[in-house]
Amino acid sequence: MAQTRRHADDLGRWALTTGIVIDEAEPRSAVSGLTGRPILTVEGMTVRYGTSHGDVTAVDDVSFTLGHGERVALVGESGSGKTTLGLALAGFLTQDNVRIEHSRLDFDGAALSRVARSRLPERTPGLSMIFQDAMTTLDPVWPIGGQLRAVIRAAARTGGGGGGGGGGGGGGRPKRAEVRDRARYWLDKVGLRDTERVLRARPYELSGGMRQRAMIAIALCGGPKLLIADEPTSALDASLAREAMETMLALTRESGTSVLVISHDILLAQEYTDRTFVMYGGRIVEQRSSARLVDTATHPYTVALLRCVPTLESAELDELPTLASVAAETRPAAPAEVPSARTEGQD
Ligand SMILES: Nc1ncnc2c1ncn2[C@@H]1O[C@H](COP(=O)(O)OP(=O)(O)O)[C@@H](O)[C@H]1O
Ligand SMILES: [Mg+2]
Repeated sequence: MAQTRRHADDLGRWALTTGIVIDEAEPRSAVSGLTGRPILTVEGMTVRYGTSHGDVTAVDDVSFTLGHGERVALVGESGSGKTTLGLALAGFLTQDNVRIEHSRLDFDGAALSRVARSRLPERTPGLSMIFQDAMTTLDPVWPIGGQLRAVIRAAARTGGGGGGGGGGGGGGRPKRAEVRDRARYWLDKVGLRDTERVLRARPYELSGGMRQRAMIAIALCGGPKLLIADEPTSALDASLAREAMETMLALTRESGTSVLVISHDILLAQEYTDRTFVMYGGRIVEQRSSARLVDTATHPYTVALLRCVPTLESAELDELPTLASVAAETRPAAPAEVPSARTEGQD
């Protein structure tokens, strides 16, 4: 029998060194801001990778809903399961060693299939995903224009359509000129001005910032109802990251597209989203309104994450706070005492 290695045991260095008991029973009543029918409902999703050392539970009994047009940030340290969750939702986890279970997975009013039927990623109409590094997502030698047109045509076949540039989706076969116009329209939308050159360019011929913008165009040109963006800006420097994030969110706001943005940058996430989910050891341990996260977070891990954010004051310290140092400071506090330990701070 395969030995099951709890993912949290590997990654819960923080919990293990603190002696703080993680309260798994974080109430879901913290969910707020949902209006109307959700676009995505996930109940009891677990994802395991089979490895030669036994199973790794990367996502552990995760449940949440996402509203139409809502933006949610999924934050947590590296290895907490964010990418795995995103890939599982988008249907990209098709390897033989992956086991996905859930009691419910509804997207846009219909159940998504439980098992991937083929080795190819199962494209879900209306759901789009972008990744941290455009070079791993885009075909490096296929010109941007071709990649855009392929998505525009596929979306038109399945009844989607990214709007603009002449002709909507409508399920028909769009004319060549229409497809070209829409490709140009989307490059322009993401702020790539030299559209003719970019259409002909291969991804490796563009700068990192331009590639990331092209990838945003490709992700949105099919008119998705939900965009899952996995660390979409972390390959860029700070100002380009902010610009790209703003572009992505402005465009999704315009089209009413829901967004699940995965980030390790809790402040960036908070600034740009309606709700923040905090993931730790494969579980979503906190779901809060982003605007009120700092005031309302109760989970010790979230509190520690927030304390690790560099501030003007902390910049003057010899060492920035880390999860480990915050943990050492709060030991042996019980979970209920942690919030007050936070206000005692270092100042
Ligand atoms: N293909 C894989 N095979 C085995 N384990 C994996 C694989 N991909 C990710 N994992 C493990 O799953 C856990 C979650 O990883 P990941 O989803 O990438 O987290 P995050 O995106 O939060 O950094 C980690 O323990 C990682 O080592
Ligand atoms: Mg990741």
